Amino acid sequence: MRILILGGDGYLGWPTAMYLSERGHEVAVADNMIKRFWEASIGVEPLNHIRSLNVRVKRWREVSGKEIKTYIGDIAHNHRFVYKMFEDFRPEAVVHYAEQPSAPYSMMNRTTCADTQMNNVLGTLNVMFAIQHTDPDTHLVKLGTMGEYGTPNIDIEEGWLDVEHNGRKDRVLYPKKPHSFYHLSKVHDSNNLAFASRVWGQRVTDLNQGVVYGIDTDETRRHEDLQTSFHYDSVFGTVLNRFVTQAVVGVPLTVYGSGSQTRGYLNIRDTLRCVELAADNPAERGEFRVFNQFTEQLSIMQIAERVKGVAAVRGLAVTIDHIENPRVEQEDHYYNAKHSKLQQLGLEPHLLTDAVIDHMLEVALTHRDRIDPDVIQPAVKWKQR
Ligand SMILES: NC(=O)c1ccc[n+]([C@@H]2O[C@H](COP(=O)([O-])OP(=O)(O)OC[C@H]3O[C@@H](n4cnc5c(N)ncnc54)[C@H](O)[C@@H]3O)[C@@H](O)[C@H]2O)c1
Repeated sequence: MRILILGGDGYLGWPTAMYLSERGHEVAVADNMIKRFWEASIGVEPLNHIRSLNVRVKRWREVSGKEIKTYIGDIAHNHRFVYKMFEDFRPEAVVHYAEQPSAPYSMMNRTTCADTQMNNVLGTLNVMFAIQHTDPDTHLVKLGTMGEYGTPNIDIEEGWLDVEHNGRKDRVLYPKKPHSFYHLSKVHDSNNLAFASRVWGQRVTDLNQGVVYGIDTDETRRHEDLQTSFHYDSVFGTVLNRFVTQAVVGVPLTVYGSGSQTRGYLNIRDTLRCVELAADNPAERGEFRVFNQFTEQLSIMQIAERVKGVAAVRGLAVTIDHIENPRVEQEDHYYNAKHSKLQQLGLEPHLLTDAVIDHMLEVALTHRDRIDPDVIQPAVKWKQR
């Protein structure tokens, strides 16, 4: 299959490109390296050294004998670039990762909020229009987030909710209560995509993904130039990465508030498999299909205790601090999100084992001298006043 990966220089996009290329697909990636700019603009960098996209593609060609085509351009602000790329590559499936992915970044100030929403919403609109312009049969696999749902006091379904109201029944998009302007941008995307399916008959799979952890895939391990980014700062780093680096430099793990906040998590290997399963089993014409893409629910305290326990086996003494929660979110809440559809398609989850945490500790120890504990402290508050 010809698969175009938007955001192919990113944490998930690059490993996905190699994974699908390895499995015989014709793969192209698009990116404008804006994430590297955002990192520089707030003074953070990944823990590991990430090579340029050109070097990665060249190294992949050397180790695998396979070609990944590149398109460099902005999908949000240059629709001509997007149209030309679609006309040139004529993808059968598009995996769309190319968005600003951080909730704290979107909550910094007016500019970062507007940048996030313009980048994410306009980018997805351009992709929808490019599909319509080039080949309306193209299947769009779009990365959304479990954070679109928030923490409702009822079970979270996979995208759709059957309701009965005043004796009549309907099936509606599941009501969303997102936690940040970033998560809101994903809700706006979902609404636009549901519209494109309903009105234009587009094929869309919206993957409401949980928090991803992990650094290695079979492909990233093949050469150090092929590794993917490990962010540990409070803006772009996810919670497990932050705790692992704090454990390694001997500062307390910073749990926001009580730590009973519960979310869905998954291993990066499962992200790649989920995207492959979605592409191999496309949505029907006119179908807006939603999968909840995570494999296990964990609370922040469970993660902190797990890191503490595994670190202790390595002789690292870890303490846990409860700090004032910079976010506005419910801490003690009900959380039960359905996530069976990808497993029905064949996903076999890799759960968060002690071995996975230990490997992350090992990687962080290797780069210990690059860890700056200051950037892990939360600098963005949800309440502006
Ligand atoms: N990593 C996670 O835990 C996680 C969880 C849920 C959802 N997601 C979603 O998955 C997707 C990928 O996440 P990630 O962690 O790999 O993020 P990332 O920032 O590492 O990758 C995104 C890539 O898209 C590129 N990009 C952004 N805007 C672009 C534009 N306008 N034109 C061209 N390229 C652009 C960036 O330069 C970057 O390389 C995002 O949409 C994110 O919201 C990620």
